[in-house]
Amino acid sequence: MTVIVTGGAGFIGSNFVYHMLSAHPDYRIVCVDCLTYAGNMSTLAEAMKNPNFAFYKTDICDRDGIYEIFEKEHPQVVVNFAAESHVDRSIENPDVFLRTNIMGTAVLMDACRKYGIDRYHQVSTDEVYGDLPLDRPDLFFTEQTPIHTSSPYSSSKAAADLLVLAYHRTYGLPVTISRCSNNYGPYHFPEKLIPLMIANCLNDKPLPVYGKGENVRDWLYVADHCKAIDLILQKGKVGEVYNVGGHNEMTNIDIVKLICKELGKPESLITYVADRKGHDMRYAIDPTKIHTELGWLPETKFADGIKMTIKWYLDNKDWWQTILSGEYKDYYARMYGDRK
Ligand code: NAD
Ligand code: TYD
Repeated sequence: MTVIVTGGAGFIGSNFVYHMLSAHPDYRIVCVDCLTYAGNMSTLAEAMKNPNFAFYKTDICDRDGIYEIFEKEHPQVVVNFAAESHVDRSIENPDVFLRTNIMGTAVLMDACRKYGIDRYHQVSTDEVYGDLPLDRPDLFFTEQTPIHTSSPYSSSKAAADLLVLAYHRTYGLPVTISRCSNNYGPYHFPEKLIPLMIANCLNDKPLPVYGKGENVRDWLYVADHCKAIDLILQKGKVGEVYNVGGHNEMTNIDIVKLICKELGKPESLITYVADRKGHDMRYAIDPTKIHTELGWLPETKFADGIKMTIKWYLDNKDWWQTILSGEYKDYYARMYGDRK
C-alpha cells in the first residue's frame, strides 16, 4: 500500500506521517510538500531515516510534477493536508490561498482520476461552517450545517470541499472529507495561538490576545485527529463528510492564562490588541457521526495534551527558535508591530 501525504512537512501532516509509519509498518508513505514558510524538513528528520518513507519537494499546483510522482509511485491513497492554513495571512493576502487550497486540490484529484486511486481524502476544517453565537451553547456544527464561511482561508477550504464532492458525483472519484476543529500539539507553527503564546511566554514577550479574548475554539490533540483520518481511510464511506472534534471548547483568554500558569509566567504579559477582521466567535463540533459510525473517540484530555505540548516546546527549543529567527520576524512585525 502506497499513501501520498501532501503537506507532510507541516504541523498535522508531519504528525500524520509519523502516525502512519508506526501504525502501518508495511505501508510506503510518500510525502509531497513544496516547503513554504510553514514546511520544515527538520520536522521530518526521523522519517527520512525510515526506508518506507519518501519525500518529494513538489508544489501540488505543479501538474506535471504531480503526474510524474503518480507515475513513479502508483499510490492507492492520497491524503491532502497541503494548504495555506493561517487565517491572519489569508486576510493579508488571499491570492495564494485560492491557488494552493483550491487549484492544488483540483490538480491532485485530476491525477487521481488519470492514474486511478482507491481513496482521495481531503483534510478540511470546521471553519467551513462559519461560526456560532456565544449565547447559544446548545448549537454545534453537524455535517448538515450549511457552508457559511467568514475568512478567505475558510472560503478557499470550502471551495475545495465542494470541488471534492463534485469530483465524486461527476467522475465517481472515491473521496472522503474530514472537517476537524482546532488542533494543538508538537510541530505546530508558532504563528498559531497556542505555540505563539508558549514561545512568547518563554521569551517573556507580550501575549497578544485579539479583541476581548472571549472567542471560543474546540481544541483537539493532533494525534487524535491523525487517528480519526486513519480510521476514515480504513472504514469511512466514500462520498461522505466526517466532522472530527472532542467537545473541548475554551475561550482564548482561558487558554492563554492556562499557558501562563503552566509556565509560571505572570498574567501581566497579556496584552489585548485590535481584533481580527471578521473574527469567528465560536467553533463547536458535533462528532456524533464519526463516533457512532466509525467508533472514533478522542483519547487525550486537554489537561494532559496541553502539558505534553508545553513539554514538547520546552524540549525542542531549537525547532521553534530557528523558525522565530527567520522570515517569521518580518511576519511578526507586520502582524503585531503597531497593532493597538
Ligand atoms: P501547516 O500550515 O502547518 O502546513 C501546511 C503544509 O503544506 C506545509 O508543510 C507547507 O509547506 C505545505 N504546502 C503549502 N502549500 C503547498 C503547495 N502548494 N504544495 C505543496 N505543499 C504545500 O498546516 P496544518 O495546520 O498542518 O494544516 C494541515 C491541513 O489541515 C490544512 O489543510 C488545514 O486546512 C487543515 N486543518 C488544520 C487545522 C488546525 O488546527 N491547524 C484544523 C482543521 C483542519
Ligand atoms: P488561530 O490559532 O490562528 O486559529 P483559528 O483562527 O484558525 O481558529 O487562532 C485561534 C484563536 O486565537 C482565534 O480566535 C484568534 C486568536 N488569536 C489571538 O487572540 N492572538 C493571536 O496572536 C493569535 C495567533 C490568535
